[in-house]
Amino acid sequence: MKLWGGRFEKATDHLVDDFNSSIRFDQRMYRQDILGSIAHANMLGACGIIPKEDSEIIQKTLKEILADIEAGKIEFEIDAEDIHMNIEKILISRIGDIGKKLHTGRSRNDQVALDIRMYLKDEVIGLCDMLVSLEEVLLNLSEKHRDTILPGYTHLQKAQPITLSHHLMAYFQMFKRDIERLHDCYKRMNVMPLGSGALAGTTYPLDRNMVAAQLGFDEITQNSLDGVSDRDFAIELASCLSIIMMHLSRFCEELILWSTHEFSFVEMDDAYSTGSSIMPQKKNPDVAELIRGKSGRVYGGLMSLLTVMKSLPLAYNKDMQEDKEAIFDAVDTVKLCLPVFMKMIETMKPNKANMYKGAQGGFANATDVADYLVKKRLPFRQAHEVVGKMVLYCINTHKSLDELTMNEYKDCSPLFEEDVYKAISLEQCVEDRNLPGGPAKETVSHAIEIGKQFIAQAKYKLNTK
Ligand code: ARG
Repeated sequence: MKLWGGRFEKATDHLVDDFNSSIRFDQRMYRQDILGSIAHANMLGACGIIPKEDSEIIQKTLKEILADIEAGKIEFEIDAEDIHMNIEKILISRIGDIGKKLHTGRSRNDQVALDIRMYLKDEVIGLCDMLVSLEEVLLNLSEKHRDTILPGYTHLQKAQPITLSHHLMAYFQMFKRDIERLHDCYKRMNVMPLGSGALAGTTYPLDRNMVAAQLGFDEITQNSLDGVSDRDFAIELASCLSIIMMHLSRFCEELILWSTHEFSFVEMDDAYSTGSSIMPQKKNPDVAELIRGKSGRVYGGLMSLLTVMKSLPLAYNKDMQEDKEAIFDAVDTVKLCLPVFMKMIETMKPNKANMYKGAQGGFANATDVADYLVKKRLPFRQAHEVVGKMVLYCINTHKSLDELTMNEYKDCSPLFEEDVYKAISLEQCVEDRNLPGGPAKETVSHAIEIGKQFIAQAKYKLNTK
């Protein structure tokens, strides 16, 4: 018989049992469900809502059930619908009527809200740890490439010279924001809903704060309807995860491009590349492509969650059972991508010579030629025009700006002097960009130092809770 079978005269159709059941995907919350129940039982005993001895027996048995699940000794049943009723049923099968007291003052609606919050809190901590490791890889790589010059692009056209270090530190900033976003999202996840009951709280004098403290929550939810029907925290997390995937995907796209024969800016390690079954010469960046591709399913999770929650009347509706697969898959996918991405970039070999060569053609120093004239007191707009004409001349004569002779320079503007060659060397172009946030070696070194400080703090921020 079902735990809720009292008012029914007929058994549920087996198709409905199967359809309705979430045990296939919510069994992963077994630990959170049991810890939540232990805290609830403890509080029921402490508040005199059930006898202390019963509370202790329940808690002890729940711990045994937890150990048995972890030892692989328990099979869950589809008929028992979800993880919450499976565990309650096992408890009752072990200690009979005493077990039947556990659900006093609780509903599956606040129970599931609690379990997902607990589950996702742990996942957020794990995700932050992974992102911190990724940041460490980026800082390490950046330190090694402060002198590695490559072209920066806009519209995928060569724009101005930068360093690989500066480029990598741009991604450092993105993942830093991702960590901060996860920390922020964690705050709203860290609110304890038990005591909301099915929707309207409960008549028992539960000590909600006691349960919150035992389970490591900062606060309790402030409205019982909202307590059971809020899934904002899952949507926020899915959005954080989508942004992480968007960042990974952009990075992957660049690495795919950079590892083409045409660019040859990086070579992926053999261990992080794959071959073709027909074309013997191929070395494909499958890992990067797959990560880029997997961003799609994470965005899909976010869209599913938003769509499931849209138009749901208060409070709990069964639609909300659909939250789990979407958010679990999004979390799993990001957790799958981050370590392999990290290893891939840690082992790739940047080709400094090709990067430098890439920065040479394409007039990446044209702005610096204009800036040279500005330093000689020509208004910028005029300097821009002079250099624009020079670029056209170079294109027609198949030269680069630094290959022009002094006479050619003088023909374009009498302001040019010998020192122009040094001023527009790629090294100088980078070094002169030393404003905060710029690519100059000093500036990037400073950014790396600040980055290290951020990582040192981020490391223990959530873990100490
Ligand atoms: N398995 C359900 C879910 O994931 C648990 C809550 C069920 N509550 C209910 N009233 N049917 O949402």
